[in-house]
Amino acid sequence: MNKQERNAMFALAKGWILEAGESIRKRLYDPLTIDTKSDANDLVTSMDKDTEYYFINNIKHVYPNHLIMSEEGYGDDVRTFDGTVWIIDPIDGTMNFVHQQRNFAISIGVYHNGVGEIGLIYDVIGDNLYSAKKGEGAFKNEFGLSRLSHDKSIYESILGMNHFWLCNNRFVHEKKMQELVRTVRGVRTYGSAAIEFAFVAEGVIDGYMAMRLSPWDIAAGIIIVDEAGGLTTTAFGDPIELLRGTSVLTCNPSIHKPIIHDYTRQGRK
Ligand code: IPD
Ligand code: CA
Ligand code: CA
Ligand code: CA
Repeated sequence: MNKQERNAMFALAKGWILEAGESIRKRLYDPLTIDTKSDANDLVTSMDKDTEYYFINNIKHVYPNHLIMSEEGYGDDVRTFDGTVWIIDPIDGTMNFVHQQRNFAISIGVYHNGVGEIGLIYDVIGDNLYSAKKGEGAFKNEFGLSRLSHDKSIYESILGMNHFWLCNNRFVHEKKMQELVRTVRGVRTYGSAAIEFAFVAEGVIDGYMAMRLSPWDIAAGIIIVDEAGGLTTTAFGDPIELLRGTSVLTCNPSIHKPIIHDYTRQGRK
């Protein structure tokens, strides 16, 4: 994709994401239809579906040949990364949206022949747009984010992770992860993978790890973190296969090796 095409697509996507966010803010306290999916805590609302539908309509109108992979099923059945693929999470952090009316984001990643071209994460209530275009750095609103330092020690790091790592689970021995939690300076759980990626890019947390995420949770975040000088792999240090569900570690590059070598790989089941 050339720079001109990328810029045109970015401008459109940015306009759509801001408009979708504005519409969510206006309707924040309107009655919602809330359904459950895989289990009683896996929520989806009419707002998730309406927002996804809004993006699909707009994208297909301008780019009928592009493919769209999105969480709530209005997109295409995408099985390859040939051509241009939009990967969309209309609301990342639906549980936060339903219970807190904050701490949720819209996430859009655009890939061309498998290469990340554009990432946008919009924290709707904070009105903060994190963005990146390939090769042009990462931004928070109009401000360029500084590249992540390469001298962060694990002892002074704040990690984003949820409690499942510390409970008995099928991936890694919880004792090892309890050791990690005691080693780092602090741990935070925000409940929106997209926001946690954005925070890694911004340097307000130094890493975020999750056991199982879907393409739409991470597609934009990978590009934004990469442009900020961060690194994203599976929780065990392998390359991410974006078309499948995957574990994730996204972080400042200087704490990647210690986390993988001293904790997740050692504790792997
Ligand atoms: C969820 C959030 C959450 C993560 C879950 C995701 P959703 O996305 O990103 O932080 O722990 O695994 O499924 O369902 O709210 O879009
Ligand atoms: Ca969901
Ligand atoms: Ca999500
Ligand atoms: Ca979602």
